Order: sequence, then C-alpha cells, then structure tokens
Amino acid sequence: MEYQLDLDWNDFLQRYWQKRPVIIKRAFKDFIDPLSPDELAGLAMETEVDSRLVSHDEGRWQVSHGPFESFDHLGENNWSLLVQAVDHWHEPSAALMRPFRQLPDWRIDDLMISFSVPGGGVGPHLDQYDVFIIQGSGRRHWRVGDKKILKQLCPHPDLLQVEPFNAIIDEEMEPGDMLYIPPGFPHEGYSLENALNYSVGFRAPNGRELVSGFADYVLAQELGGMRYSDPDVTLRPDPAEILPGEIDGLRNMMLDLVQQPEQFNHWFGEFISQSRHELDLAPPEPPYQAGEIYDLLRQGDKLQRLGGLRVVKIGAECYANGERLVTEHQQAVATLASANVIDAVQLGEALDDASFLALLTSLINNGYWYFKN
Ligand code: SIN
Ligand code: CO
Repeated sequence: MEYQLDLDWNDFLQRYWQKRPVIIKRAFKDFIDPLSPDELAGLAMETEVDSRLVSHDEGRWQVSHGPFESFDHLGENNWSLLVQAVDHWHEPSAALMRPFRQLPDWRIDDLMISFSVPGGGVGPHLDQYDVFIIQGSGRRHWRVGDKKILKQLCPHPDLLQVEPFNAIIDEEMEPGDMLYIPPGFPHEGYSLENALNYSVGFRAPNGRELVSGFADYVLAQELGGMRYSDPDVTLRPDPAEILPGEIDGLRNMMLDLVQQPEQFNHWFGEFISQSRHELDLAPPEPPYQAGEIYDLLRQGDKLQRLGGLRVVKIGAECYANGERLVTEHQQAVATLASANVIDAVQLGEALDDASFLALLTSLINNGYWYFKN
C-alpha cells in the first residue's frame, strides 16, 4: 500500500515548517489504518517494543510502561496506549512514513502510534521535535497554543506537562486529517471516540549530542594525537595567567579536528545513520553465501529494506545503521540509500563485482535488507 499525501510541499515549507502549526484537512483521502487497535495492543505486549499507557482520573495521572500482559483492567474512558517506532516492527505501518520523504531522511525519526478511548490523551505538553499527527479511525479534538514560555508540570514522574494554554488551533480531527506541530508549541489531544493517531516524528541533534558524538569518534579513530606546543612562549608578569593567544591556540586545536571535512563527514554519516530505537534485526540463519544472493537477485527476487533502518548519503559516500558502505559502485549504493525495495536491474553491473556482492552479502547477513516474499 502506498499512501498518497495531498500537500503542496513548497507552500508548506515556506509557510509552516518550523514556523507555525497547521491542520491540513483531508491530507490523506479515504484514509485506511495500516493496523488495528488489537494489532497495536499486540505490539505493546512484546518486550523489544517501547510502549506506555497513560490514563487520568479526576486530574490524577498514571503512566505505566510496556511490555503489557493484558489490557483487561482498563475502563472505557480516559486512557491512551502509545507505541514508539512502529515502523520498525510493522511493515504496513512503515508505509505511512514514505510520503514524508519530501523532507530529508536524516531529519526523520520514527512513527509513534496511539490508540485512545474517549477522553484519552497525554495532557498538555511540548515536544522538542517537529511532528505530523495523522488522524486514523475515530475523531480526536486537538488544541495547539502559541510558542511561549509555559510553566512545566509533572503530574507523574514519567509525564511532563505544561500549564493550561490559550489555543490558536482548536479543532476536531477526522480520519485522514493531519496536524503539523513545530517544536515547542504546546498541544493536547483528547479523543472523542476510540481513535488511532499516527505521529511521524523528526529529529534534530542539539550541540551537546554533536560534541559528545564527535568526541566518541575522535577516541575510536585515535584522532587528535598532536599535542599543544609553544616554541614562542612569552614571559608574563603573573605565571598564573593563561594569555588570550594561548586560549586561541587551544581552541584552534579543537576546531582543527572538527574542520577536517572528510573526518567530519565520516563521523556525521555514521552518527546520523544510527537509529534511536531498536531495530527488528533477524540475521538469516544460516547466513547467505554471496553466490546464493547473486542467484536469487538474478532470478528476480527483490530485497526489502528493514523498517527503521537509516541510510544516508554525503556526497558519494553512503552510510547505513552507523557504518560507512565502502565501495566504488556509487550508483548501486545510491539505490540502497533511496529505494525501499531493490531488484537486480537497479543494482546494475555492480552485482557482477565480487567486492560489491560481498558488501551486499554482509548487509543482508546483518539483517539490514531481506528477501521479500
Ligand atoms: C498522541 O497522543 O497520539 C500524540 C501525543 C503527542 O502529542 O505527542
Ligand atoms: Co506531542
């Protein structure tokens, strides 16, 4: 199934992206849920899947974390089940992410799906990231406020909310409608009936994550071995003093590391192609031999990319799940980066090269791509 999103992307980027929230009515025509509430509940019973239940009763909030054994204790009102990274575990749901590939892959994060009964929601809160919330079956009332400083509340140790806010969007969403919320705009959704919501979330690293990620790379690659030196050190009246020129020299030593374009690109490709959520890795057992992979592709079998696997390109270099894919076959590796399903024709003559086939074999044996039935 391919979802069709009816959106003028140029207009959207210019007017709303990272600027202000908007509801797009009937963004998906005749929307069909990729999964049922029962299937979502099933996922929340699995240990690897990250899920939580949020409920409230007369202003008292409860949060519990999956995996859940049963949902029998829940009433008919005021709770919501939220499951993270469903695109990693359920291929039909991953299809909902694809219309958003108008935006760069490296900015996209995961698909969170919630099921809420009437009154269900997580309360008023802020998110750090952009999100598109698609209304599946059922109706839900959404309120979004302007971006301004709001008092944080913590009605439960695992639940961060904000004080009540005035709404600039106050609307009921119906199946196929979509709400876009930039980072920092307070919002809350309350279900009016049993409802499924799909949140396509984005990611944006902060400076702290970049510095710490880059420091890990410097250590792993044993970069930056050059020591500070001062053949022209000057005498100073007070030996306790560190002179401005010395501070500049030290800062430049650090900047020099960041400013090596090749190292920076390698690091960033590895860093940003790592998923923030667990992958459903199932390496084939026994592993494939390169020849078997060649034969399967040549006879027309297709490879499917694992849901949630991140593959990015910087210039001619390609990175998948934190690893650089070293090969001369740029065209073939670009296909790995852009296509969801791959066949022999797309890989072209690279398939006849033993070193490319060895690379592909290791990717398949890692469970990053698998043969589609
Ligand atoms: C949801 O309840 O489906 C979305 C929660 C959120 O606003 O982040
Ligand atoms: Co939110």
